[in-house]
Amino acid sequence: MQPRKQCLKNGRMLVIRKAAVEDARAVLDYIKGISGESDYLSFGPGEFELSVPEEEEYLRKCRDSDNQLYLLGLIDDMVVSTLTFSAGRRPRVRHSGEFGMSVRKRCWGFGIGSLMLDTLIDWAKDTGIIKKINLRVRTDNQRAIQLYEGKGFVREGTIRMEMFLDGKYYDHHWMGLVL
Ligand SMILES: CC(C)(COP(=O)(O)OP(=O)(O)OC[C@H]1O[C@@H](n2cnc3c(N)ncnc32)[C@H](O)[C@@H]1OP(=O)(O)O)[C@@H](O)C(=O)NCCC(=O)NCCS
Repeated sequence: MQPRKQCLKNGRMLVIRKAAVEDARAVLDYIKGISGESDYLSFGPGEFELSVPEEEEYLRKCRDSDNQLYLLGLIDDMVVSTLTFSAGRRPRVRHSGEFGMSVRKRCWGFGIGSLMLDTLIDWAKDTGIIKKINLRVRTDNQRAIQLYEGKGFVREGTIRMEMFLDGKYYDHHWMGLVL
């Protein structure tokens, strides 16, 4: 996949490319940054504790796999968004995978999430392997649900009590896109 350059709604230039092993430190810094920015993520501040070598190993696996993807969105060489997709290893489940994505809060609403998702869908079609893209989203995450529905994802079911935060349980929708 070639890097993509796109002009955002605010006039800034976004570069979307696959993460390299050398991005491990920047990815961990990004995760540290977003962990306190959204209650919709599956981790909070200090809960994502991979070391740089562990992150490097994960990025290496993504790089060498034909059905996993680690995408970075960058403005002026700073990571402002990540998207990870992972499909099954065995022949019966290699065609189907799940992704998760986030954008730094100060960059919300400029079209970055939409461009990252377009890039995933184009890459998945190009693999010739991926036929189905899934995701889980908290049922009250309107912003994300609107983004996914806009790309053609449909709700396939609801998972009860998927998240526990501040004494409360939250349901998630299971959504999917058939390519
Ligand atoms: C969800 C998230 C990735 C969206 O990223 P983003 O860069 O702000 O999204 P975009 O600017 O591309 O907007 C995409 C669509 O989202 C929807 N959207 C954007 N802002 C919205 C708002 N304030 N209210 C409702 N929907 C909104 C719109 O449908 C929009 O499409 P449009 O611009 O064509 O109308 C980002 O808000 C985020 O990282 N949130 C925290 C983590 C998270 O929730 N991740 C998803 C977990 S499943």
